[in-house]
Amino acid sequence: MQHSIGVIGLGVMGRNLALNMASHQEEVAIYNYTRDLTDDLVAHDEGLPLHPYYDIEAFVQSLARPRKIFMMVTAGSAIDSVIESLLPHLETGDIIMDGGNSHFLDTERRFDELQRHGIEYIGVGVSGGEVGARTGPAIMPGGSKEAYDHVAPILTKIAAHVEGDPCCVYIGPKGAGHFVKMVHNGIEYADMQLIAEAYSFLRFRLGLDVTEVADIFAEWNAGELKSYLIEITADILRKTDDETGQPLIDVILDQAGQKGTGKWTSLQAIDNGIASSIITEALFARYLSAVKEERVAASAVLKGPEDLSTLERDAWVERIRQALYMGKVAAYAQGFTQYRTSSELYDWNLRLEEIALIFRGGCIIRADFLNVISEAFKNDANLSNLMLAPFFAEKVQAYQESLRHVVAEGALSGFALPCLSTSLTYYDSYRTANSNANMLQAQRDYFGAHTYARTDREGVFHTDWQ
Ligand code: 6PG
Repeated sequence: MQHSIGVIGLGVMGRNLALNMASHQEEVAIYNYTRDLTDDLVAHDEGLPLHPYYDIEAFVQSLARPRKIFMMVTAGSAIDSVIESLLPHLETGDIIMDGGNSHFLDTERRFDELQRHGIEYIGVGVSGGEVGARTGPAIMPGGSKEAYDHVAPILTKIAAHVEGDPCCVYIGPKGAGHFVKMVHNGIEYADMQLIAEAYSFLRFRLGLDVTEVADIFAEWNAGELKSYLIEITADILRKTDDETGQPLIDVILDQAGQKGTGKWTSLQAIDNGIASSIITEALFARYLSAVKEERVAASAVLKGPEDLSTLERDAWVERIRQALYMGKVAAYAQGFTQYRTSSELYDWNLRLEEIALIFRGGCIIRADFLNVISEAFKNDANLSNLMLAPFFAEKVQAYQESLRHVVAEGALSGFALPCLSTSLTYYDSYRTANSNANMLQAQRDYFGAHTYARTDREGVFHTDWQ
C-alpha cells in the first residue's frame, strides 16, 4: 500500500502532527534520523495508521505520487541535510514541506534550489505548540499554488477549525508562509510582554494578591480581550509549586528565553523601514531580562521613587484592561503593517483579511478580536493601519486616556512598562501631522549638507547655515 503522506522528524511537534494526520484517516509514513523516536511513537500510536521506516529510501518509496513529505526538523542546517538525503530518491513533481520555524529567506533559497530539480517546496508556518499540533494548529503554507492544491486536503483537515472554516489558507509564493509565521511570532512577543506588564502592574503596583489577579484575567477573558494568551495567564497564576507551596510564577526565574523568530521580525522591519517598535521593545525587554545579575546589582544602586500613593482598585483595574486592549491593537497594527509593506516589497499579494481569519484558531495569538481585524481588511484591503479602521479608531480614542494614566503612573512610580509605553508613543507619533523630523533634517543639512525638502515647494534644498 502506498501511504498518503510522510513525516520526517518525530520530536514533539512532528510526532503530534503525524498523530493528527493519522487520526484524520491518512496513512502516514514516519521516519526519524535516529530510530528511538520512531520506535517510541509506534509504541504509543493510539492504534492509528502510522507506518515506521528506518531507511530513507524505503520511506520515500512508500509514498503515493506526487509524494508529500512533511519535515518537522529543527530550523537551520538540519533542514538542508534532510533535503539532501531525500533528493536522490525523489521524482519530478514530488513535494517537500517544511513545518518548522525556518527563516523565510532560507525557504526562498530552498524553493529556488528545488525548483531546479523539479521538486516542489512549501514553507509551512505552523502555530499552536504541542497541543495545537495534535488537535489542530493554525497553518500558513507558502510555495506554488499548484503544489499547495495537492496538499491542501490534508493540511486543511488537520488544521484547527473556527465556525467550520479551517485555519489554513494558501498564503502566497515561496517564503510567504514562513514570513507570516515569523511576524505572527513577533506579534506573539509583543502580546506576551503587554500581558506581563499588565500582570505586574496589578500585582505589584496595585498590590493585589496572585489569585485576585488570576480572577481578573479570567474575567477579562470573558470580554473583548478574550484570547488564548489571556486565558493561559489566568491558569498560570493559579498554579502552585509542588515543592514550596508558593505560586509557581514566584519561583520561576525572570530571565526570558527566545529562539529567534521575534528577532528576525524586528530585523526584517528595521531593514525595510517598518516602524515595528512594540515588537522590537518586547524583544529588548527579553534581552534586558537576561542580564539578571546586572539588574540585581543595579537595584541596590539605582533608586526609584519611594512612598507610592495608594491607587483605587476598581478604577485602576479597568484602566489597565483598557490600556492592555489598546496596546494589543497597536501591536497587531504594527504586525499587519509589516505584512502589508512586505507584501508590496516582495510582490506576495498577502490577503490580510484571510491571515486574520486563520489566526482565530489553533495559533498562540488566537483572539476574539481577530474577527474584527479580518472585517477591517475585508472592508478596506488597502487599509494603511489597523488603528484607522473605524472600529479600532473609536476604541483607541476611547481607551487612550487609560493608557496615558497607566504609562504615567508607571513612570511616576518607577515600574517599567516598555511595551505599554511604546504603544502610546506609537499612537501619538502616528497621529502627529507635523512632527519634529524637520529639526532632524535641518541638523543633517547643517552638519553634513544632506539637503532637505521644503513644505511650500518641490525640490531639494541646502542652506549655508553659518
Ligand atoms: C507557535 C509559537 C512557536 C514558538 C514558541 C517559542 O506559534 O506555536 O510561536 O512556534 O517556537 O512560541 O518561541 P520563542 O522561544 O522565541 O519564545
